[in-house]
Amino acid sequence: MTNKGLFITFEGADGCGKTTQINLLNEYLKQKNYNTFLTLEPGGSDIGKNLRQILLHHEGFVSDTAELLMYLADRAQHVEAVIMKNVNEGKIVLCDRHIDSTVAYQGYARGGDIEKINQLNEIATQGFKPDVTFVFDVDSEIAQERVGKNKDRMEKEGIEFHKKIRFGYLELAKKYPNRIKVINSNLPIDEVFEQVKKIIDEIL
Ligand code: TMP
Repeated sequence: MTNKGLFITFEGADGCGKTTQINLLNEYLKQKNYNTFLTLEPGGSDIGKNLRQILLHHEGFVSDTAELLMYLADRAQHVEAVIMKNVNEGKIVLCDRHIDSTVAYQGYARGGDIEKINQLNEIATQGFKPDVTFVFDVDSEIAQERVGKNKDRMEKEGIEFHKKIRFGYLELAKKYPNRIKVINSNLPIDEVFEQVKKIIDEIL
């Protein structure tokens, strides 16, 4: 590892178990004395916290374009104010969702133009890319059960929407095999984490 740090992103459909895994990895790296920084999208910056509230809890109509641009505004602020700074300080930045969420949700699931989303992601991130991305792949039925009854605006979309998201992530993994590692997340938590640990141990 160089002194520039690392940028690792965690992706998957709602209920895939990635938030549990990001916390486990954070603990594991801290025990090994790595300097980590845990963050999320949307909501990893001050402006982002307000955008997260709108994106997940606004009750009226939200246009697909407004939704897309709010996720990107959150990302632009987060990358410049938080992510780049921490990676450049030599930290391992663990980010719960990033560019691939927009391609999977606003592209594959909502039907947005993927080429345009790629261009917007490029603008929002200033070309700053994750070193590694974990995609937690889980059967859509199991994921829906894990989400439970208390659903936010995105989670309220039905199972067909979430199947498209899963398909989108698997397509992304085929397209970027060096960056994106697919983790079988149908298994118990410790077995899922074993897969993550194996990949991380190889990188560090
Ligand atoms: P989460 O923090 O619980 O994963 O919730 C974030 C929600 O926002 C989740 O349903 C995925 C969705 N999302 C998008 O639709 N597009 C994006 O670009 C991002 C970052 C998240």
